[in-house]
Amino acid sequence: MEKLKVAIIGCGSRGCETYGRLVYDLHDKFEIVALCDIRQDRLDKYSSEFKIDKKNTFLDEDEFFKEKRADVLFICVLDKDHVRVAIKGLNLGYHLLLEKPITADLDECKALLDAKKKSGKEVIVCHVLRYANAFVKVNELIEAGVIGKLVSIQALEQVGWFHQAHSFVRGNWRDTKETTPMIMAKCCHDLDLLQFYAKSRCKTISSIGDLRFFKKENMPFDATHMCVDCPHIDKCPYSAKIIYLDGWLSRGKPGNQWPFNVITEANPLTYEALSDAIKNTKYGRCVFDCDNDAVDSQIVMMEFENGITASLTMMGFTGCVGRIMKFYGTIGEIDLDEEKSVIEVKRFALPKEIIKIDDLVNPDSMAHGGGDYMIVQSLYDAIIGKNAKTTLEQSIESHLMAIAAESSRLSGGKMIKVH
Ligand SMILES: NC(=O)c1ccc[n+]([C@@H]2O[C@H](COP(=O)([O-])OP(=O)(O)OC[C@H]3O[C@@H](n4cnc5c(N)ncnc54)[C@H](O)[C@@H]3O)[C@@H](O)[C@H]2O)c1
Repeated sequence: MEKLKVAIIGCGSRGCETYGRLVYDLHDKFEIVALCDIRQDRLDKYSSEFKIDKKNTFLDEDEFFKEKRADVLFICVLDKDHVRVAIKGLNLGYHLLLEKPITADLDECKALLDAKKKSGKEVIVCHVLRYANAFVKVNELIEAGVIGKLVSIQALEQVGWFHQAHSFVRGNWRDTKETTPMIMAKCCHDLDLLQFYAKSRCKTISSIGDLRFFKKENMPFDATHMCVDCPHIDKCPYSAKIIYLDGWLSRGKPGNQWPFNVITEANPLTYEALSDAIKNTKYGRCVFDCDNDAVDSQIVMMEFENGITASLTMMGFTGCVGRIMKFYGTIGEIDLDEEKSVIEVKRFALPKEIIKIDDLVNPDSMAHGGGDYMIVQSLYDAIIGKNAKTTLEQSIESHLMAIAAESSRLSGGKMIKVH
């Protein structure tokens, strides 16, 4: 079996914790040979874990890109750097696994497409849910005509209160000037799924939403900048102690699990390391006293060129995490609920069929419903010459939808033509 050499740029939660570990275990197909990150501690940690010679680890992007070091490059730096790094990679002749979102800039989308065409290499964007068994199953049901002709889709993205606080108030995606708007950062997956199911380009889009809650004006008068000093530390559901310390204990002290492994480099995780992180990092800040502008809820309405309609609600204020999608067809309905882990197929005038998502997913490959695991398998297949499941052009389509949705939101909900 052909073995692909892998280089990873951006050795964080996605680059090394997720894909690095996955492909390290798939050693008959992949071999990690080079790492690049601006943090020496991460290079040290993962070069030792993946047994990579120190001379193949790079602190400096320019040095890393002086020559081609592998067959495929995993691009897992933060959002605003994706296209710059991807074009350098394509110009050197790498195939790419490119983290989403690609970019929120139209010109960058075009530049990336041009570079891809010129290079002739594969570019797989990490819309991992397209590869996750539950979402694939729904597509099979729709294509089999089980609900007749698809008329409309209603989607709810339950971000989860702690995920909202962790990523979009305290963490990497809080400041849209530094990264991408929430509808792009979090929901390009959902928009991608909607166009995948609709099997059509989106024609018009409108959106409303705002940052309502996580603002200075909602900070209790006696609260403090860091949760560890705050009188509300044991009462506020967003308290860093409740999310990271109590949360870690209640999940049975996992040795290495998101989001705990984002706030400290300790591996395995310890209570002391997490306590230290909430005292000394941005993840210990009061959620009402951060430098955030990402929205905490947003609604998007869409019409596709083939007449199918869709709505998407992105909601930060949910107790559950996961997507709920309802598919309305002319002779039936399908409900997918990630949290309840079921797909319900309701053919009109017939008994309901229940499909358990757990029966579709290999428990060893659970992250993103198995999507992380399946995307690296699919990347391998695409590079050795089998058809890629998604093209860069299709991935860009969902980005055009997100760009239009954000533009509509900023103009108070105006209807925008996507093309
Ligand atoms: N597909 C998904 O479902 C999914 C889920 C989460 C995050 N993401 C995306 O993955 C990307 C990475 O997110 P993450 O959670 O791993 O973040 P992270 O902060 O854990 O990792 C990013 C890493 O990139 C490094 N870095 C930054 N600039 C660099 C540069 N110029 N050269 C080399 N290294 C550099 C950082 O030091 C860090 O180690 C983001 O774009 C994010 O939006 C995708």
